[in-house]
Amino acid sequence: MKLYHAPASPFVRKVMVLLHEARATDRVTLVPASGSPLDPGTLPIDRNPLGKIPALERPDGPTLYDSRVITRYLDDLLQAHLYPAAPRLWDTLVIEATGDGIAEAAVLMRYETFVRPEATRSPAWADAQWQKIARALAALEQRWMSHLSGPLDMGQIAVGSALGYLDFRHADRDWRAGHPALADWYAAFDARPAMRATAPDA
Ligand code: BEZ
Repeated sequence: MKLYHAPASPFVRKVMVLLHEARATDRVTLVPASGSPLDPGTLPIDRNPLGKIPALERPDGPTLYDSRVITRYLDDLLQAHLYPAAPRLWDTLVIEATGDGIAEAAVLMRYETFVRPEATRSPAWADAQWQKIARALAALEQRWMSHLSGPLDMGQIAVGSALGYLDFRHADRDWRAGHPALADWYAAFDARPAMRATAPDA
């Protein structure tokens, strides 16, 4: 299988952490891909019409895209057991969506300064993205710490990848302020070998 990959992407990181946790990194060849909404560059637009990564090319079926589709597929293929049975599954999926939402808003903020020409930037729009992130961090802190501290699952991996991206691109926003339980949880989670092996890189 070929995984279209960028070392800074929190969505690619979810897939990579799953592969490390399942001891299956040898099952994929990494294909570097980079670009932006303004210039698709080497993003795999022939494989994913949305031009997004990660995308997983398979020998025996259409290319998979959207990190949640890829992680469900790999979890099934590798029997990684990172999606528990229902009813716990519904909590795992909500937490995964919360982590992905944080990452989406954080990537949009990054595009605002890195991709958009200065004259068309909107600080108010970037702040609105941060408000989404702040609400999601509060939800994790208030409602989901018990689940995050339970058996490893894709909800935890999505949140860990998103928080790692906040440290990487938005350290000045200090996401830990006001979220002591989440900060403690992340300190331990980020020490896992799978997280150490996949730290974001420019
Ligand atoms: C980044 O450089 O921040 C980035 C790269 C690829 C996907 C998402 C973010």
